[in-house]
Amino acid sequence: MTTDSKPDLRIYKTPEELADGCASYIRGELERSISSKGRATLAISGGSTPKPMFQKLAKSGLDWWKVHIFWVDERCVPPDSELSNFRFAKENLLDLADIPNANTHRIDGELEPIDASRKYVQAIREFFRLSDGQLPVFDVLHRGIGPDAHTASLFPGEPLINDHSNIAANVWVEKLKMARVTLLPGVLERASRTVLQVANADKAEPVFQVLFGPEDPMRYPCQIAARGSDKAVWFLDEAAAAKVKDR
Ligand code: 6PG
Repeated sequence: MTTDSKPDLRIYKTPEELADGCASYIRGELERSISSKGRATLAISGGSTPKPMFQKLAKSGLDWWKVHIFWVDERCVPPDSELSNFRFAKENLLDLADIPNANTHRIDGELEPIDASRKYVQAIREFFRLSDGQLPVFDVLHRGIGPDAHTASLFPGEPLINDHSNIAANVWVEKLKMARVTLLPGVLERASRTVLQVANADKAEPVFQVLFGPEDPMRYPCQIAARGSDKAVWFLDEAAAAKVKDR
């Protein structure tokens, strides 16, 4: 659902307070899903910003046996690589909470990218019991934004930014010389709740462009399901919110 209403911006003084607020919000949304459906699905992003939030979420008292964790994207590297989003989540979330292995649905970054992508799509289809052409609805989908306004592993100019019908795909990120697997726009758009977690001054400009610049997801991929969506909530520290806080 797109809307012209003002974006839901929640601004915190420091990255630490931002992590607290974001973790509390995600916990609340997941608990709502658990109480209404008996389970909750959370898709998480990587990078570095999520670290304190993951640590607080792990200790938030959630019934992790009822939460299933998926990844918004993954680098095509082994799970023990320093670049792995799975390793990042394992060290800061999975190992700190008592999340059963059966509840973690990682992207097998050690495989050939096309195989990792196909395996992940099949795992999602089976978990959500999807029929052909159907897309999953994650209860909470957590995203970041890059300095270039990328989100997930959808970088500016990526043709798959126009793919609203498939679940996930492997992409080559030329600027990083790296293969990745990423959820695609159709899935990002269907999430029941999108949580954007953004910190630091280098994100102030992309945040402004995504929210108030030209509407152009090919140029600003983070606009997908985050601009004009009444299901998106932005968690920002003051540095990242510098150009939008008075809008
Ligand atoms: C990844 C992430 C990516 C991330 C942004 C922002 O694999 O790198 O999924 O989309 O969210 O790059 O990362 P930071 O918030 O750590 O800068």
